[in-house]
Amino acid sequence: MQALPFKEYVKVEGWDFVDPSEYLREHAKTLTPEFWLQVAQELDWFVKPTRSIEGEPPFYRWFRDGRLNMSYLCLDRHVRGGKRHKVALFWLGEDGTERVLTYGQYYRLVNRLAYAFSHKWGLKKGDRVAIYMPMIPELPAVMLALARIGVIFSVVFSGFSANALADRIKDSGARYLITADGYLRRGKRILLQENVRKAIAQSPVEGVLVFERLGGEWERGERDVMADDFLADVPANVHVEPIPVESDHPLFILYTSGTTGKPKGIVHDTGGYAVLLHATMDWVFDAREEDVYWCAADIGWITGHSYIVFGPFMKALTSVMYEGVPNWPDPGIWWSIAERYGVSIFYTSPTAIRLLMRYSDEYVERYDLSTLRILHSVGEPINPEAWWWFYEKVGRRRCPVGSTWWMTETGGVMVSHTPGWKLVPLKPGTNGYPIPGVNVAVYRADGSEAPRGERGYFTITTPWPGMPLTIWGDDERYVKTYWQKFPGKFYTGDYAIMDDDGYVWVLGRADEVMNVAGHRLGTYEIESAIVEHEAVSEAAVVGVPDEVKGEVPVAFVVLKEGYTPSEELKEEIKRTVREILSPIATPKEVVFVSKLPKTRSGKIMRRLLRAVFLGQPLGDVTTLEDEASVEEIKRAYEQLKGEMA
Ligand code: WT7
Repeated sequence: MQALPFKEYVKVEGWDFVDPSEYLREHAKTLTPEFWLQVAQELDWFVKPTRSIEGEPPFYRWFRDGRLNMSYLCLDRHVRGGKRHKVALFWLGEDGTERVLTYGQYYRLVNRLAYAFSHKWGLKKGDRVAIYMPMIPELPAVMLALARIGVIFSVVFSGFSANALADRIKDSGARYLITADGYLRRGKRILLQENVRKAIAQSPVEGVLVFERLGGEWERGERDVMADDFLADVPANVHVEPIPVESDHPLFILYTSGTTGKPKGIVHDTGGYAVLLHATMDWVFDAREEDVYWCAADIGWITGHSYIVFGPFMKALTSVMYEGVPNWPDPGIWWSIAERYGVSIFYTSPTAIRLLMRYSDEYVERYDLSTLRILHSVGEPINPEAWWWFYEKVGRRRCPVGSTWWMTETGGVMVSHTPGWKLVPLKPGTNGYPIPGVNVAVYRADGSEAPRGERGYFTITTPWPGMPLTIWGDDERYVKTYWQKFPGKFYTGDYAIMDDDGYVWVLGRADEVMNVAGHRLGTYEIESAIVEHEAVSEAAVVGVPDEVKGEVPVAFVVLKEGYTPSEELKEEIKRTVREILSPIATPKEVVFVSKLPKTRSGKIMRRLLRAVFLGQPLGDVTTLEDEASVEEIKRAYEQLKGEMA
């Protein structure tokens, strides 16, 4: 691991900084349930909560006697409060098509959709609907329309395969599927119909709603309805009462990878989640009325749910959404967009920064980025080199740059610099301090607190608003995955170090979950996809470092009797993963081996595979793998080395 610059402090000119000691003193005062109840009062509830946290641990419930509606918070208040004509979204297609939607226009669309959902489809509170849509302006509208009538939605990233979509439809029990004809990517038309067709063949739904991005390229099936037809007879000005839901009514389910088994359906509530987003939009993003905000993520991930849709809409911000990738048609495209719309708050990922910094600096220097005020990254640790490039080339040394740590499960940012609350001196690469009301610790395996500077397990030690309600349909797995390693505390699965000042440095996953370009992938999911190939008997996948993506999968494959290793077979195996799971999960390399190194209890020694692949020495093996003798490990290592030579 690269040495971390624990002692490098950066103070941005024009910004007020507080001393770490002051931050911590003020932060300590926020660690009470009453603090969050007070923050909650800032929201527009139908029934204000009087209670903060309740429930049987770890099934905590926040603000339980409160009643609210997310769609109301995101639209009605603004439309009635004089912001009907404020731009909600500047949308830019990859082909240069621009669409501008005001809060008033969103309000109309959302009401019409909500009307059709309840009157045509008979959807009601508690039903589930799956959404498989690319980054088009209708996606936030669909989410807000479903929330308006209490329907629990599950967004499936549009880059996922038919199988991944089918699994999620099945697990969530979705009645309907909402999709689009496709989208543009690097100048190509990507069509979604085939994946949808395959998915619903496996997991039938009552109907499919199709939005048009590519001129309606969709062969209509019996259960399909095009959005224009769906809405044709719905009055333009129809109003659907947003139903006041209980604070702990599920807003959505979002699937995320774990170490074993199928992806977990993380369930988020409405009230706690809304309060956390409201607060973090202020503290972390310092969001103001006049800001132009751009979170360059995809709505298919939690970042997009929280910080493209709900957070900025609750704050009535003007947002930017771009359809394409950061380096096509050229690596200046993002900065040209930031200049064009006068973006002031920009949120992206380390992998995007590392990609863009490989090109000539001219691509960024050429644009006027003087409107930028706040920069943040998310998804994985930001290496100091990338941090400096972001700070100097993009922010021109005028903007605080942070690395917000959080995860699908936390609902919103947990650890970050907080330019909208109190700003401590920046350190390139750190996540900073926990936000107000959030308590974290780094533990040793025995549950004691790790000394400063020592790597340990990153844990959130007290419940927070925005925490999961459970894993959909599997309370037991929820408890086992998060609350048992350190009983009563939320274990994140990450390694972290706390430095001498108490700044948090999350280092990456401590488990067998990979982080490929900021996307979480379970080794198990990729392995399951590989063994679907008829030639494969067994597979093990490990993550290896990659300069741009952070980490990429490498697959070790044992073939069945009668099959021989070949280049074609490697390509076929890669293609299998692409098709079954997602292009993101495609192994960079496939290595054929005669057997996989395992412990006596049958656990694959992945760390050994990684070491051999990277040409690293075996080193100290006494702590390397549980339940395998040093001799066994050495033998396995030598054999592997022989096979890979
Ligand atoms: C995992 C969660 C939260 C939205 C994106 C990912 C890693 C995330 C950081 C950061 C270091 C980070 C962790 C975490 N991670 N942000 N700023 N510094 N690591 O959500 O797919 O649920 O993945 O991403 O390893 O556990 P996710």
